[in-house]
Amino acid sequence: MTDVQGRVAFITGGANGIGLGIARSLARAGVKLALVDLDTDALDRARKELSRVTDVEIYRLDVRDRDEYAAVAQKAEEALGPVSLLFNNAGVATGAPAEKLTYALWDWGIGINLNGVINGIQTFLPRMVERGAGGHVVNTASGSGLAATSSGVLYCTAKYAVVGMSESLNLELAPRGIGVSVLCPGPVATDIVERSAEATPATGAHLSEEQERRGAARRAHMTALLQQGVSTADVGEMVLAAVRANELYIHTDRMMEDFIKRRTKALLDAMPAGSDASRDEVMARSFTVKSSDQKQSS
Ligand SMILES: NC(=O)c1ccc[n+]([C@@H]2O[C@H](COP(=O)([O-])OP(=O)(O)OC[C@H]3O[C@@H](n4cnc5c(N)ncnc54)[C@H](O)[C@@H]3O)[C@@H](O)[C@H]2O)c1
Repeated sequence: MTDVQGRVAFITGGANGIGLGIARSLARAGVKLALVDLDTDALDRARKELSRVTDVEIYRLDVRDRDEYAAVAQKAEEALGPVSLLFNNAGVATGAPAEKLTYALWDWGIGINLNGVINGIQTFLPRMVERGAGGHVVNTASGSGLAATSSGVLYCTAKYAVVGMSESLNLELAPRGIGVSVLCPGPVATDIVERSAEATPATGAHLSEEQERRGAARRAHMTALLQQGVSTADVGEMVLAAVRANELYIHTDRMMEDFIKRRTKALLDAMPAGSDASRDEVMARSFTVKSSDQKQSS
């Protein structure tokens, strides 16, 4: 059980949507907040609202910018104290079909959805471990990080990586008293589709009026679907409960259940029938992380 009261949280993408929902729940639980985002108007609104409840600092930060990340982390800790709750949440929807992807789109999507998370870990984790005061990291992935969906190759690639990173971090950090959760939301009622469309780098391709119209209709349809999903307030409460209970996986609904079952079955079915069971068992033991190994290497 992580006691969050009085701790300092750093939330990327904290000005809107899920990040703001998490910020609201943490504020009510007595957590001080450093909110970072690209959307400065929304940051101002969030500070105005949340500073009635807790201490809040806001910073404009592009999570892809490592130098800026380090500078903002420094300022946040000087203002609020050591960060021991880290929420790597900023993200964009990147739904272009595989054959329409460009290097610019890959760099943008991986830059925010994966490298942004890596930058948060690189910035804060060494000092969290060094201080020895415990803490918790929540990485926002997606249901599309657990099984392939129609969210697109680029989105699934980044989100799978975030799930793998979180599971591995969880093994390594447990003996150091730092919990790790990976948030894998189903549909959540936010404006991510329109916000991401506005931020998407231009591909240079000329779109006809008809193509523009169909793109806008697709986005409107997706946004309407998301509005039927779970509220950001509910997600905030789920995340707070998972931090307190130190739970690895945070699902917001059961939408992915059948996808995960089918993927797991396909993975198991694909294993060779005639494999040497005793050799596999010895190997599996060697690849299992033991807390005694980690304490020795720390
Ligand atoms: N809404 C959903 O249905 C859903 C489902 C699964 C996963 N997610 C994930 O949840 C996270 C939050 O999404 P959301 O729905 O709240 O979206 P949102 O657009 O409402 O909020 C995301 C925030 O991240 C910020 N942001 C974007 N790029 C940034 C950058 N480079 N640096 C700093 N901030 C940046 C945006 O300005 C915005 O405030 C994302 O990682 C998303 O992939 C959302």
